[in-house]
Amino acid sequence: MNIGIIGLGYVGLTTAAVLAELNHHVICVDNDSGKIGRLRQGIVPIYEPGLEECITRHCQDGRLLFSDRMEDGFGGCQVIFITVGTPPLDNGSPDLSALSAVIIELANRIRSFTLIVIKSTVPPGTCEWVAKTLLDIGVDPTQYDVASNPEFLREGTALHDMLHPDRIVIGVRTERAASLLREVYTGIDTIYTVTSLSASEMIKYASNAFLAAKISFVNELSRVCDALGVDVAEVSAGMSQDVRIGPHFLQAGLGYGGSCFPKDVGALYHAAVSRGVAMPILRAVKEINDTQVDWCIDKLSESFGDFEEHRQVAVWGATFKPDTDDIRESRAVLLMKKLTESGYQVHAYDPLVKPEVPHVWWFNDMYDALVHCDALIIATEWSLFQDVDWSEVTKRMKGNLLFDGRNFIDRKKAEEAGLRYLGVGRP
Ligand SMILES: NC(=O)c1ccc[n+]([C@@H]2O[C@H](COP(=O)([O-])OP(=O)(O)OC[C@H]3O[C@@H](n4cnc5c(N)ncnc54)[C@H](O)[C@@H]3O)[C@@H](O)[C@H]2O)c1
Repeated sequence: MNIGIIGLGYVGLTTAAVLAELNHHVICVDNDSGKIGRLRQGIVPIYEPGLEECITRHCQDGRLLFSDRMEDGFGGCQVIFITVGTPPLDNGSPDLSALSAVIIELANRIRSFTLIVIKSTVPPGTCEWVAKTLLDIGVDPTQYDVASNPEFLREGTALHDMLHPDRIVIGVRTERAASLLREVYTGIDTIYTVTSLSASEMIKYASNAFLAAKISFVNELSRVCDALGVDVAEVSAGMSQDVRIGPHFLQAGLGYGGSCFPKDVGALYHAAVSRGVAMPILRAVKEINDTQVDWCIDKLSESFGDFEEHRQVAVWGATFKPDTDDIRESRAVLLMKKLTESGYQVHAYDPLVKPEVPHVWWFNDMYDALVHCDALIIATEWSLFQDVDWSEVTKRMKGNLLFDGRNFIDRKKAEEAGLRYLGVGRP
């Protein structure tokens, strides 16, 4: 099938690669001509394991084409996915201006039946609005349909997640749209959840809000565990064995970040409150997350004792999670900012990125970042931080405090090397 994709970020590029793997021909459009230029030269502008190899292979076999503008008729595409960003506005609601601009431009280019699939995360009612907008512009309603197909990939494992999803959610108005989407995904072995347009849109927000709630719950628990002298890591492990609870998103730490959870929690909260519906649970989820970095800095300061003597720290990790170069809403970056504002001198290392953070010194080598430091803080759970030579860490540091901001380091190994281990909610 010929398929179009508009918006080539983390979701759009992964979708393009996966659809090419499924033997479709994909026309990929983004209005960032610099990005299109790089993609045409074989340079993938984001880091996602396996993505560059996959895109390069399918550029060579002619399954992927890149353009910075929509063509009339869009190359005979029967299905067009829209994967533009929907970042938050100041009031928490999503900015739908990119989606709106795409729909208006697309309206003038539809020449034969086209299924427009909204993959971007959008509030319930948006797909209906898209359908009505096309009608209002004068597009023949027999020539298009609109479907919702929210994306659940996780950055860092995006290709795998899209090729092996737990389920594919499709919101449709017609059986024709549902069967076209099933045809698009032929070759992917999973279950389909077929719903109305607005239920599909809501499933995405509800899922992200629920996962964020699990993280804030365990972070709240870490505070009471800290006060009671209980190890939250042992508690999480014990809870995880209950199949009704499960093991995922139950690790206490610096809180959730990234381009989705904070944005989607905020958008759902805004949608509720602006209709007079209070969401106290969601408000608390956000509140705990917003204060978790400060809570961790307080714990760090307490364990230092004399601040004047101890104020140089190394932070390992800057991305919002491992195996990505994405720093949007990263707790690690927020931690660095707050540490410098509190008077700490910060040395930083990340295997992929060096974001501009005022007064932070970046190092190319993770061990070099430790020199003269009183403490090491692990802010992102990159697996290479688990395999470090802890005796080398001890040798390079001035002090001996290790703050595991993600509760994922082997505590015993670090302590055997002479480090004083401090976790989140781990006495
Ligand atoms: N990143 C994730 O992990 C993830 C996971 C699931 C869902 N989502 C959702 O998917 C959507 C896209 O997320 P992302 O992280 O890929 O965004 P992104 O910011 O990485 O990419 C968006 C792309 O859209 C392009 N764009 C913007 N306006 C355009 C226009 N008018 N015409 C053509 N291209 C345009 C931008 O240039 C950019 O390349 C969002 O709604 C997000 O919430 C993201």
